[in-house]
Amino acid sequence: MNTLEPFIYNADDEAATAALGRALADVLPPGTTVALCGTLGAGKTRLVQAIAEGLGVNRRDVVSPTFVLVQEYRGRRMIYHFDAYRLRDDDEFQQLGPDEYFESDGLVLIEWADRVEGSLPLHYIEIRIEVTGETSRRFEVRPVGRRYEEVIRRLANS
Ligand SMILES: Nc1ncnc2c1ncn2[C@@H]1O[C@H](COP(=O)(O)OP(=O)(O)O)[C@@H](O)[C@H]1O
Ligand SMILES: [Mg+2]
Repeated sequence: MNTLEPFIYNADDEAATAALGRALADVLPPGTTVALCGTLGAGKTRLVQAIAEGLGVNRRDVVSPTFVLVQEYRGRRMIYHFDAYRLRDDDEFQQLGPDEYFESDGLVLIEWADRVEGSLPLHYIEIRIEVTGETSRRFEVRPVGRRYEEVIRRLANS
């Protein structure tokens, strides 16, 4: 389905991760879903903080929605922050009514998205984060479905 190479971003430190988050905040169109994958402590929440900050949300308001399951932030656009870590399966995710969020013009950011892969929309952006050192992270950003190919190109050029 995907002909486009993923955009690879190597962050040497947290500031570089924050810069990626700001760049994403600038290029992600309304209604985008972002699937975040990576081990505990990889930096999924940190990247969500950076994206939210780029949209005018106070970074301190952004914490993993472990118990409430979905958190909403009002920035220049709405952000819906999910964390699938404690969800048992796709059914439990479905109970949160994700399709309504996917169809909204807000930004949907899902941590541990690989756990609810079957519930993701047809088109979304996948970000895989790998820990490469104490403060370094490797980000792989790829469009799933054709809709976001151009967005990834713009991100790579920014
Ligand atoms: N380059 C980096 N990018 C993101 N987080 C980093 C980086 N370097 C160190 N960290 C630290 O890694 C941790 C990432 O935690 P968090 O974002 O909560 O991970 P996750 O949500 O993936 O479990 C934080 O303590 C953060 O300070
Ligand atoms: Mg987290």
